[in-house]
Amino acid sequence: MSTNRVLAYLAEHQQRHLEQLCDWLRIPSISSVAEHRDDVRRAASFAADELRDLGLATEIIETGGHPLVYAESEQRPDRKTLLFYGHYDVQPVVPLDLWQQPPFEPLLRDGRIYARGASDDKGQVYCHLKAVEAYVRQNLPLPVNVKFIIEGEEECGGHGIERFTDANRKRLACDAVVISDTTLYNAETPAVCYSLKGLSYFEIRLRGPAADLHSGSFGGTVQNPGNAICEIVAQLKDGDGRCRVPGFYDDVLDLDAAERAAFAALNYTDDVLREETGAPGPFGERGYTTLERMWARPTCDVNGLSSGYGGEGAKTIIPATAVAKVSMRLVPKQRPAAIAAAFQRYVESICPPGVQCEVVNLHNADPVLIERDAPLMQAGLRALAAGFEAQPVFVREGGSIPIVGTFQRCLQVPVLLLGYGLSTDNIHSPNEKLEIRNFACGCRTSALLFKETAAPV
Ligand code: BES
Ligand code: ZN
Repeated sequence: MSTNRVLAYLAEHQQRHLEQLCDWLRIPSISSVAEHRDDVRRAASFAADELRDLGLATEIIETGGHPLVYAESEQRPDRKTLLFYGHYDVQPVVPLDLWQQPPFEPLLRDGRIYARGASDDKGQVYCHLKAVEAYVRQNLPLPVNVKFIIEGEEECGGHGIERFTDANRKRLACDAVVISDTTLYNAETPAVCYSLKGLSYFEIRLRGPAADLHSGSFGGTVQNPGNAICEIVAQLKDGDGRCRVPGFYDDVLDLDAAERAAFAALNYTDDVLREETGAPGPFGERGYTTLERMWARPTCDVNGLSSGYGGEGAKTIIPATAVAKVSMRLVPKQRPAAIAAAFQRYVESICPPGVQCEVVNLHNADPVLIERDAPLMQAGLRALAAGFEAQPVFVREGGSIPIVGTFQRCLQVPVLLLGYGLSTDNIHSPNEKLEIRNFACGCRTSALLFKETAAPV
């Protein structure tokens, strides 16, 4: 009965919820850009004010960088406890000219909400808040105790939440962690995610001459950092698409036959890949299907490359510097620290003579693997099936959520990854959006999850 009232409330108040979400999305909480520091704080306050209004004991916690928002409902010992995690910070918005509207002026159009952070992650985490609201505003008892921890450093690799989690295990104690920061399998198919990739991210900096040189006067006399960075990048992978860093594959957990069959049954075709990416076709490590590479094989990719002149027309120089940003996405059993050390050694060993080479490890994250037969996962599947009115599937993700490994280690509880985004939501890219239907179904799913996990999990 109360479930019907909760779902009816969510339907009735959806328009207001979307407008409030737009207010949150208007705050440009770009965590990696110093000039947005105050905006990041305003986005934290927005979430904190709302949680406080719902009657949760709420605090903004300083950790040295961008603050954490922490909130909890009254904790009754006879109820299960869910800890909801999300992030209120967003990625930078360049290149700005490719947006159809300014990224912090949300646009509701064609059943979508366009804005930076709409899908990653404000729109998704907001579903959990609105699920709580549907109970609280109708004076219905929450079927579970809830705790919220919403961070502002997920996108910039900050460590505040890690330190806080490690030092506050009692406070964060719960029966399960729930996170909505991933995706459905596709528009018709909701999904519980059971594996995230880890990450090891580097910047390779090369210095040659003290300043750009005339390429006629000095070309051929000194090493060119632009050429040198290309030599390095060209040796990161072989012709079969395999990473050449020694030992890179040593710890990779191979897929078993059942998992390969489950991936194959999802029927991810080349045409779907073309549609989702706009790329001419699939490409990658030989011997694996697209989904296997996307979800269960480690990768090594240039994320940025710069050297010399990129403007209009010709400018004849030997550039003074070159930079490559390179990420390795890691899969279960690979250890970021070991991979990082191996990468550093390898790049130094292949750096051509005549340049100074600095290899800087910007951030690392652990890969994640979650048991699929835990009762919590079944509860997640039931909530999704009812919330989205469609049969959910298990998926993995190629993306990373650095804190998940820390939660597993410090809290020793299962983690449920219930994504409400789509892989075509343009996260980290111009024109990020969230489907309004997925927001609505997400709110329902979160509300239903309280009931589904109230019984012993
Ligand atoms: N929401 C994403 C993680 C994600 C990406 C899940 C794609 C599913 C599909 C998250 O906010 C994110 O972008 N994480 C970063 C972490 C990094 C900065 C350490 C990532 O994966 O690049
Ligand atoms: Zn995210």
